[in-house]
Amino acid sequence: MTAPGTAAPVLPPEQGRAVIDPASYAQWDGLLDLFDRLREEAPVARVESPDGIHPPFWLVTRYYDVMRISKDNATFLNNPQTVVFSLTEGIEFAKSLTGGSPHLVASLVTFDAPIHMKYRKLTQEWFMPKNLRGVEDEIRTLAQATVQRLVDAGGDEGAGETKVVDFVKLVSAPYPLHVVMQILGVPEEDEARMLMLTQQMFGGQDEELSGSGMAAMTPDQITQLVAGAVKDFEAYFARLTAEKRAHPTGDVASTIANATVDGEPLNDRDMMGYYIILAAAGHDTTSASTAGAMLALARDPEQFARVRADRSLLPGIVEEAIRWTSPVQHFMRSAAEDTEVGGQKIAKGDWLMINYVAANHDPAQFENPRRFDASRHPNRHLAFGAGAHQCLGLHLARLEMRILFEALLDRIESVELAGEPARAKSTFVGGLKTLPLRFVAH
Ligand code: HEM
Repeated sequence: MTAPGTAAPVLPPEQGRAVIDPASYAQWDGLLDLFDRLREEAPVARVESPDGIHPPFWLVTRYYDVMRISKDNATFLNNPQTVVFSLTEGIEFAKSLTGGSPHLVASLVTFDAPIHMKYRKLTQEWFMPKNLRGVEDEIRTLAQATVQRLVDAGGDEGAGETKVVDFVKLVSAPYPLHVVMQILGVPEEDEARMLMLTQQMFGGQDEELSGSGMAAMTPDQITQLVAGAVKDFEAYFARLTAEKRAHPTGDVASTIANATVDGEPLNDRDMMGYYIILAAAGHDTTSASTAGAMLALARDPEQFARVRADRSLLPGIVEEAIRWTSPVQHFMRSAAEDTEVGGQKIAKGDWLMINYVAANHDPAQFENPRRFDASRHPNRHLAFGAGAHQCLGLHLARLEMRILFEALLDRIESVELAGEPARAKSTFVGGLKTLPLRFVAH
């Protein structure tokens, strides 16, 4: 594992490929086995690409190191290079569209101090638990409607055969999208369009899931599609901004539309970035942890019965589902100066992958980490990150999940797995793409 002439451990090509291949993330146990080995043998390892398909980076797998990097926002920056692992081709593509920036969209995750905090502060208050109480009832209405659709599709209301339903399609995918669109003030009839635009812009790696058709396109066609999506987004949000300036409501879009930074209103690119980061960050992530929680409950009928009888167990289930699924699988950082991580010398400008899946399965922090254990305490997982960029929507994510499971437990008496669930092929946001279930409702 050691590169000739240096002490840095370089991953053998097949392991390096596994780390960057979206398909490996669909083979969860194999991936966790690899991370177990790396945490032991090469916790800070160099991933190189002999054919240059991606820039070299350091893969960081231990909980302690991921936590340390996340919290040291002066040494480990977000802005210099892409914050999500990208192939060289993708980075060049973004630069060609933006006129030199590797970030297709400028947003909170791509900013560093001091700009980052100025932008984050604009909506931070809005996402605090105290303020979210004001949207709880709206979220509950969405949760109950979603559960009703599930019951209509497959619930055995006392007679006949139960049907097999896909929990992802009926519940965990649409529900967080409805919630985030509602808080953004996007009317329901525009949701499908918003979803399509985010998928076109971020090019879902799992073709079956995103249905973006990108796999069959030439690079030119993809450029046109993405450039078109950016324009379409801009036009959409320009209209929404004008409306929210003329008639501000209490939603987060009104907060952004009427915000100022250093006394100036946000420019169009920054405003669009804000809307897009919220729209994109807020749904696939919560979908994945919601589906994970359901999988854990479906596999353990006793746990399901316990939480039906005692709802105080729900927060523990929600938190453990977020750790156990780790929907955001990594973020990238760039070293601002020469430094050291886990005994490895890191040079100024080096790119690092902080891997949340690996960190959240580190046995030094979590006993028996592959086990779903709702009574885990403390459960200081890193699924929401840490430090200055820690997830802005973490209270919202927990709240939506709790409200959804309350609505589910009110209606569903028992549930069982009705087939093998499948995971998405994705290096970035991952999780279940199908979860076949059979359930009894009342
Ligand atoms: C950032 C995870 C739900 C909005 C992040 C980060 C992670 C993450 C790992 C980066 C943290 C870091 O760099 O230290 C998750 C997970 C979720 C979830 C696992 C669900 C279970 C949401 C929701 C929203 C949201 C519901 C809002 C609608 C954001 C935003 C950022 C962010 C705006 C950027 C914050 C910044 O850079 O300052 N999230 N997220 N997330 N998340 Fe979430």
